[in-house]
Amino acid sequence: MTGAGFAEVKHVPVNQAVRDYLVRSSSPPDPALSGLVDSTRGVGEAAGMMVPVEQAALLTILTRLVGARTAVDIGTFTGLSALAIARGLAPGARVVTCDVTDRWIDIARASWERAGVADRIEFRLGSAARTLRSMAADTVVDLVFIDADKMNYPTYYEAVVPLLRPGGLLLADNVLLDGYVLDPELAEPGLPRRAAQTLRAFNATLAADDRFETVMLPIADGLTIAQRR
Ligand SMILES: C[S@@+](CC[C@H](N)C(=O)[O-])C[C@H]1O[C@@H](n2cnc3c(N)ncnc32)[C@H](O)[C@@H]1O
Repeated sequence: MTGAGFAEVKHVPVNQAVRDYLVRSSSPPDPALSGLVDSTRGVGEAAGMMVPVEQAALLTILTRLVGARTAVDIGTFTGLSALAIARGLAPGARVVTCDVTDRWIDIARASWERAGVADRIEFRLGSAARTLRSMAADTVVDLVFIDADKMNYPTYYEAVVPLLRPGGLLLADNVLLDGYVLDPELAEPGLPRRAAQTLRAFNATLAADDRFETVMLPIADGLTIAQRR
């Protein structure tokens, strides 16, 4: 960047105004996506778990770029990440999405139908660890999106590595955890602090893992993209 006032600027902090500008400068959500966002807002406080729309567009692009035939979405909630991944899939490909609860699955299914991708999405009720274990050792996975309980990120990561093909992507969400990964001691004692400690260790492990080429992006609550070598 050149010009008065910009010569020394190498990055811009992501505050709310910048975040809003990023969203306005990205493709607008279509009716299926914005309808899902509206339905999810109706579930109350839990709506905060939803992946934001700008991240949905990134998931679709990444899925398409790797030509994914088999994808795994860990943490379905109301189905936004599964929908975004399904949209980027090659014809005949599928995404397996799992959750410990089916409380929100009707909202998810309605949006998948509306978007015309329901036939590419397989929902499995149960823990992500069980879903990953149930995938045959010879299953070739092209993309995994981890967005469930933070304490188990290290477990999911270890389970996914043998399944992921060279060139495949491991995507981990909420890796900044509202900034608490910088200093987990600032998080509330108990689960929030343990989650921050776990994610901080997970981030360090992944960055040092030479089986992957890894980059962390400050999109939403932080997204790590790790490509299997
Ligand atoms: C942050 S939300 C997922 C958001 C979703 N990816 C989206 O696109 O909006 C996390 C979800 O993980 C689920 N979850 C929590 N523990 C889990 C586990 N052990 N296995 C699978 N899902 C789990 C929760 O029920 C919740 O729906």
